[in-house]
Amino acid sequence: MKNTYIFDLDGVIVDTAKYHYLAWKKITEELGIVFDEEFNERLKGVSRARCLELLTEHSDIVLSDEEKHRILEKKNAYYLDYIAQLNQADLLPGVMKLLEKCKGEHINICLGSASKNANYILDKLDIKHYFDVIVDGNQVTKAKPDPEVFCRASEAMRVSSEDCIVFEDSIAGIIAAKNAGMYAVGIGCKDTLTDADIVFKDLSEFSV
Ligand code: BG6
Ligand code: MG
Repeated sequence: MKNTYIFDLDGVIVDTAKYHYLAWKKITEELGIVFDEEFNERLKGVSRARCLELLTEHSDIVLSDEEKHRILEKKNAYYLDYIAQLNQADLLPGVMKLLEKCKGEHINICLGSASKNANYILDKLDIKHYFDVIVDGNQVTKAKPDPEVFCRASEAMRVSSEDCIVFEDSIAGIIAAKNAGMYAVGIGCKDTLTDADIVFKDLSEFSV
C-alpha cells in the first residue's frame, strides 16, 4: 500500500528552482562561465557544492577550497535575497489541496530535499506542520541521484520503499527515487523526466 509520499521541495512544492538558476547565473557571469537553462537541468536536485563542481568541470576551471567556499556562500546569499519575500502565495498549483487530502487519508507526508534552506523555506510557506518527516541537505552526505535522502525518509517513517511515492522535478531526483526502489512521479516535462513512472505538469493533476 503506497501510504507514504515523499516530496522534493524546490520545483515541486514551491517555484524556487528559478531563483537557484538566477543565483547561479550571477555567479557564472562573475566567473566567466557559459551557463544556460539547458545546463541548469543538470543542477536541479543536486547539492550546492555538487552544482559548483558540475559547473567548473564543464568549463575546465580549477578553484581552491577557499575560493569554492567563498563562491558557495555568495551563491547562497544571492539565492536568499531572491527568496526574501517568499510566502504561501508562492506554493505551486495543487500543493495545499494535496497536503490537506493526504492528512485526511492518513498518508504519511515527508520532505526529501537536497536544500540546506529547506526548513527556512517551509517556515516561510507556513506548511511545516504538515510534514511527519523532514530530510534535507543538512542531513545527507550523498547528493541525488544517490537514494540516501529518500531512504532516510522511509527509514524514519519505518515503511518499506515499495510503499513510497516520490514527487520530483529533477532528473537526478527521479533517478534517486528509482535507485531507492520507489515509485517516481515526475513534476514537469515528459521529455526531460524520461525515467519517471509517470509525469504531471504540477501536483494539481495528481489525485490520491
Ligand atoms: C535542490 C535544488 O532542491 O537544492 C538544487 O533543486 C539546489 O538546485 C539544492 O542546488 C541545494 O539547495 P541549497 O538551498 O542548499 O543551496
Ligand atoms: Mg527539485
